Amino acid sequence: MSEIKDLVNKLQELLVDEANKKTVDNMFASSKELMSSYRCAIMEVETKFKVLNDWFNLQHERNPIESITSRLKSPESIKEKLERKKFPMTLESIEQNLFDVAGVRVICSFIDDVYILAESFLKQDDITLIEKKDYIKNPKPNGYRSLHLIIEVPIFLQNEKKKVKVEVQLRTIAMEFWAKLEHRLRYKKHLDEKTLSYTAEELLKCAEDSANLDLRMQNIRDIIEKQDI
Ligand code: GTP
Ligand code: MG
Repeated sequence: MSEIKDLVNKLQELLVDEANKKTVDNMFASSKELMSSYRCAIMEVETKFKVLNDWFNLQHERNPIESITSRLKSPESIKEKLERKKFPMTLESIEQNLFDVAGVRVICSFIDDVYILAESFLKQDDITLIEKKDYIKNPKPNGYRSLHLIIEVPIFLQNEKKKVKVEVQLRTIAMEFWAKLEHRLRYKKHLDEKTLSYTAEELLKCAEDSANLDLRMQNIRDIIEKQDI
């Protein structure tokens, strides 16, 4: 709870709710509710994937999910994105325009688990798919691979049902390894041109090698599973 309180305090400082001319007290209550509903939506989505993992384990005696991590977008990043995309600086605008305030990342061992899990998750009748980006089938030019889903999940509060957007990223361990390294490099501001172009080239090659490795490992697993029958 103290995490929510800190987030809300910061959000207060960063946003001015001019559109609705709300009092500071009202705004405090609303932003607390908003951040809390994102937290609840994360819990719902995490639980759904944990259930799928358990069920899969029962059927196939292995876990498709290696780990699940989640995050709430920081108030600074919320403000930066609203400004960058020229959206109004209000709480309503966060709900309407930002689809990645709540983020859940599901890390799998194998590529086909990514698709099996995504399909089972999207089939659930309380999940609404808003947007799907398949950067595994169509990697980004830098080599980035992952399956991105923007979904809406209902959360049930004391007297209401609310639909909340969550960004779900599904990827393999190898994709996670690559994305973490690429992310670290992106924030190194003082690299010279030559180093930058070398690392970009190397990263692209590593992405291709690791995509290949993912397929070969999956192939080995398939051979082992066939032997087990
Ligand atoms: P924004 O959400 O405005 O950033 O743009 P978008 O909606 O087009 O985003 P996209 O779905 O492409 O990516 C959203 C998230 O995926 C990012 O916040 C990152 O967590 C991750 N991501 C996307 N591209 C990259 C990349 O090239 N490298 C790494 N490390 N992560 C990426
Ligand atoms: Mg996005």
